[in-house]
Amino acid sequence: MSLLKIESISAGYGDAPAVSGVSFSVEPGQLVALVGANGAGKSTLLRVIAGAHKIWGGSVSFHDQDITATQDFERARQGISLVPEGRRLFASLTVKENLNMGAAARRPGLWNLDSVVEALPMIKPLLSRNASRLSGGQQQAVAIGRALMSNPELLLLDEVSLGLAPIIVDEIYESLSTVRKSGLGVVLVEQDLSRTIKVADYIVCMLEGHNVLEGAAAKLSRESITAAYFGHSIESFDDATKKGGATK
Ligand SMILES: Nc1ncnc2c1ncn2[C@@H]1O[C@H](COP(=O)(O)OP(=O)(O)O)[C@@H](O)[C@H]1O
Ligand SMILES: [Mg+2]
Repeated sequence: MSLLKIESISAGYGDAPAVSGVSFSVEPGQLVALVGANGAGKSTLLRVIAGAHKIWGGSVSFHDQDITATQDFERARQGISLVPEGRRLFASLTVKENLNMGAAARRPGLWNLDSVVEALPMIKPLLSRNASRLSGGQQQAVAIGRALMSNPELLLLDEVSLGLAPIIVDEIYESLSTVRKSGLGVVLVEQDLSRTIKVADYIVCMLEGHNVLEGAAAKLSRESITAAYFGHSIESFDDATKKGGATK
């Protein structure tokens, strides 16, 4: 049984497709990384999974239940949490208040203020600080912490490390490996390919809205991922499944 299963998802803006026929699944505790150039459709796909962007076709299942027609707030209540690109904290609230906002749709589980602070130790000295006075890395950690406060079963992270110092990113990824031990599934968009290969269990490469290559991170070569990223065809796809799509 998969935690998340998406089948042949398509979506777009106006008449322009952004995601075309993408399928994959996420098991509990698994980290799936979406890799692809700017404009490949990664953010749109995450929003479709969260129910925040209209789906044109295909289906989304969570715990083998079809949730394709389920509203975003209901998906959040069921345990799907999106940390969108570009943080979005409540600037006039303190860190603690921001974290508690995440508990509004709170599901039962092990995440609360104490356990979140333990998993993301950089938050600890900042609890009473105003969110407008945080650095980028601190904001990102709080955004992830806020998502955890709802006790999600599936965390969707869109470029959480964008523009952050590598040392902060290390810290954030370390926290992520801790939270995955609780069985949390993660879909991650990350621009840094080396880091992606290191943290991901499974990689899905998107090119112009299509899933052009996917496979276990340990079995995909860096060359095949780079080729998929740029849309070059290569001879060897290792043990990966080559998907139909933008590559002809
Ligand atoms: N708000 C929007 N209005 C119109 N087109 C958009 C909008 N957001 C994204 N797009 C288009 O959808 C495609 C996929 O974008 P996006 O999902 O943001 O890709 P990625 O996250 O991989 O960079 C791109 O062609 C982009 O220009
Ligand atoms: Mg994006």
